[in-house]
Amino acid sequence: MWTPKIFDYSKINSMNINSINIDSLINGKVPAIIIQNVYDKKMCKKIVDRLNFEKSTFLNGESNHIGPFLMSYATRRNDYFDDAKKHEKIFESVFSQLKSPTIKIREAIGDILPDYSISSAKELKKFYSCCIIRIHKKGKLIPIHKDDVKYEGIEFGVSKIDHQISCVLHLQESESGGDVIIFKKKWVKENEKFRNIDFGYSSQLVKSTEFCKIPNLKSGDLVLINPNYYHMVTKITGNSPRITLGMFLGIFEKENSIIAWA
Ligand SMILES: [Fe+2]
Repeated sequence: MWTPKIFDYSKINSMNINSINIDSLINGKVPAIIIQNVYDKKMCKKIVDRLNFEKSTFLNGESNHIGPFLMSYATRRNDYFDDAKKHEKIFESVFSQLKSPTIKIREAIGDILPDYSISSAKELKKFYSCCIIRIHKKGKLIPIHKDDVKYEGIEFGVSKIDHQISCVLHLQESESGGDVIIFKKKWVKENEKFRNIDFGYSSQLVKSTEFCKIPNLKSGDLVLINPNYYHMVTKITGNSPRITLGMFLGIFEKENSIIAWA
């Protein structure tokens, strides 16, 4: 069985840190590391209330996310950094007077990887986006895809990392659907022939592949996966939108350092 490592953040001090082996995530021995209750549920609710997405000033029109996402700016470096800068203020107001969830996530990562330094990714004095908040309403799904900055973000300095980890903090769960599925299959270039025209890959690609469906995620839970493995989010069928805050971590092995971006 390919099962995730799951534990509650409150137990972290009494745990053997070596049992939370990030290498096992990098090399696909475990599909995910799930740290429950990293961020206070009440704080999650406060952020969700502030988003108040029907009439939010943080969201433009039909947009279902806040913050730029590097992969959608693959060949538009300057636009990406301009948008990242613009969104610094927006995130400041979304998180104002609360402990920033991006800082909380870094603290949690620091707890499980005490030998690594963690910093915000930047290049030529410009900071990358700190995170992206996604709001997925009923009927929405995220198709099978991978995230691989070493391949897709070649124009950006972050493509020089050794390993990429995806960190997703759940701010609100839907009543049903919206489950994360990870397939035990890592992207290779030859898979590009299965790529859909708009986004993601044909389900043919993972037809007979072992997978892990992550059960029962709640607000405040943090999910770490290796995004080079194919993953998807099932259709949201409950009335409450699924709301998440995501970022990537890039690990530099020799330097024992980690950079964060979205
Ligand atoms: Fe992804």
